[in-house]
Amino acid sequence: MGKLTTSCSTLGYAMAGATIAAAAAAEQWIGRGDERAAEEAAATAMREALNMIDFAGHVIVGEADVPVLNVGEKVGTGKGVELDVALEALEGTTLTAKAMPNALAVIAAAPRGGLLQAPDLYMEKLAIGPGFERGVVDLDAGAGENAVRLARAKGVPVREITACVLDRPRHEKIIADLRSVGARINLIPDGDVAGAIATAMPEAGIDMYVGQGKAPEGVLAAAALRCTGGQMQARFAFRNEAEKYQAQRSGLKDAGRRFEIEDLVSGDVIFSATGVTKGALLDGVERVRGAIVTHTMMLSSADGVMRTIRSVTPLRG
Ligand code: FBP
Repeated sequence: MGKLTTSCSTLGYAMAGATIAAAAAAEQWIGRGDERAAEEAAATAMREALNMIDFAGHVIVGEADVPVLNVGEKVGTGKGVELDVALEALEGTTLTAKAMPNALAVIAAAPRGGLLQAPDLYMEKLAIGPGFERGVVDLDAGAGENAVRLARAKGVPVREITACVLDRPRHEKIIADLRSVGARINLIPDGDVAGAIATAMPEAGIDMYVGQGKAPEGVLAAAALRCTGGQMQARFAFRNEAEKYQAQRSGLKDAGRRFEIEDLVSGDVIFSATGVTKGALLDGVERVRGAIVTHTMMLSSADGVMRTIRSVTPLRG
């Protein structure tokens, strides 16, 4: 699968510019109860930033609720390397509207064919951070069993394992299962990209992410985990025949199968996320003395390095 010929860090910093622009634009909508306005502002700013970068980008995972950066849109100047792009200009629209933690602006990019073109459907996901043998946890085992296996691999009692789970009625069984083995649960209201990536960031205190969230978010989380050496497994969770049909029509082969991390993301990948509201991974955007201050993580699978960027953009006018 594709290798990036342009320096990963050059492209990565350019992509980081796009997530920084999106987060800065979303700032004015934090806590204002208007999800759509926040998303549109972020997506418009992200598009403007992407269109200044010398590359030929194809949005293959994009915005669904605003008419900007939708799947199929071309981004970049059209000169240079051809890349597939997966993005959520605002991951956590509700979090932003309610000024709650963990909203992000996110992009992943890879040579063509390197990112799964995931339709806007639900997926069961299981993610852990780096440093474990492959297969230590298994999507087909129960959440409790996986917590026990992970505890064994870490050499700690299972009560020291923390699983992150979206707080949804559909996760009742997963929650009961985790509780039955004594694992700790970090229930989040939204934002499973941050939840899954947190498994790779020791300071976030999350060992495992488990549960159903949207598939586009799954591809974005897989991109970050691939760069950090984490693991992820997933499977579409169709709620009805229409959703199965939607998956088939989107061109997914054997959509009912289990997806390993390399089915979601392969080849070289770069990933950038900028905090919109303060969270476990990143600080949120802030206005400080006439400037917008942002906090970004930029990752590349080519070197596995996580670079963090603090940007200070003076407000003009
Ligand atoms: P937003 O639409 O508010 O950005 O929410 C994002 C999100 O929480 C994702 O992180 C997650 O994958 C998905 O929504 C879960 O969907 P649902 O809210 O339908 O359970």
